[in-house]
Amino acid sequence: GNGVAFIGSGSATPQVTLSNETLSQIVETSDEWIRTRTGIQRRRLVTPDRTMTDLAIAAAQSALDMANLAATELDLIILATSTADDLFGSASLIQAQIGASRAVAFDLTAACSGFVFGLVTASQFIRTGAYRNVLLIGADVLSRWVDWGDRSSCVLFGDGAGAVVMQATDESDRLLGFELRSDGSMNACLRLAYQGESRTLMDGVTITQGTYGPITMNGKEVYRFAVQRVPEVIEKALFRANMTSAQIDWLLLHQANQRILDAVAQRLNIDSAKVLSNLANYGNTSAASIPLALDEAVRSGKVKPGDAIAASGFGAGLTWGAAIFQW
Ligand code: ACO
Repeated sequence: GNGVAFIGSGSATPQVTLSNETLSQIVETSDEWIRTRTGIQRRRLVTPDRTMTDLAIAAAQSALDMANLAATELDLIILATSTADDLFGSASLIQAQIGASRAVAFDLTAACSGFVFGLVTASQFIRTGAYRNVLLIGADVLSRWVDWGDRSSCVLFGDGAGAVVMQATDESDRLLGFELRSDGSMNACLRLAYQGESRTLMDGVTITQGTYGPITMNGKEVYRFAVQRVPEVIEKALFRANMTSAQIDWLLLHQANQRILDAVAQRLNIDSAKVLSNLANYGNTSAASIPLALDEAVRSGKVKPGDAIAASGFGAGLTWGAAIFQW
């Protein structure tokens, strides 16, 4: 059969923890400000000896273990990231290092929406019958690109990785509905842009060379966008699933800000006990945040097989989307 099933999850975070108190020695801020405005208490930061790929591999291996699937069985690996170790793509390196010799691998970039966009993309390959076993990873190391002098953004982000294993099933399709959106007219709200300097190679031949970043963000605009668009896109995905928000067991939002989580839950009339949240410990880990929170909830026994989950990612692009699925 060509239905989509979820058979494993995994996650990995770096060892080093940066608390709000310690962060307030780097920029002019306070634990009180960060906690009350965002709900974040600490975040993990990748050390110079480790890479995004290392985190992604650790998350992938733990998801494969839960799925009880050998890497050689994988047909496809999708790596959702905006912070690849290599701009040509990092998915192939993961494919080689985990020994997924048969799998095709590619990167997918949609900022904090990357995991939801990747979940829908992976599902299309399964539904068409093209691929049977798919590894989807969300991994980001935004600490590399944050402006550590900008207190309005550097307090928000952390590093991490999460993964799920998806498989074709003869039973019912567990992806019940989805809706994906983009609005590039609001691109300037949140950017990690290329910054090149002009360089003349010879008369009449001028190019630019440089690097990326740092991250720039209009926090108020991003906040307004999220609180308005996320409930809409979840409603649309629920409609496609022929469901109402009352039938949802868990609301699994991109972990950007506790106030955004609370506002979205309230608009959808979803009880706060059904809202998965771990951003106090990790901050905003971009494409990793949804699979990281999912994996913690699965391993703690909160999310059980058959539970209905409404997941929604939102962020730079701007991009946003929702997927309603059964674990
Ligand atoms: N510590 C202390 N004071 C601060 C800090 C800080 N870390 N940051 C800003 N302030 C100050 C500001 O300077 C301002 O002072 P002023 O009134 O004297 O000018 C005051 O606090 C209020 O600042 P606001 O920006 O108005 O604060 P706001 O309540 O809007 O909260 C926040 C800011 C937390 C960034 C909020 O807007 C937010 O969460 N937005 C969404 C951001 C987000 O989630 N982005 C990621 C999206 S996902 C992705 O794709 C990466």
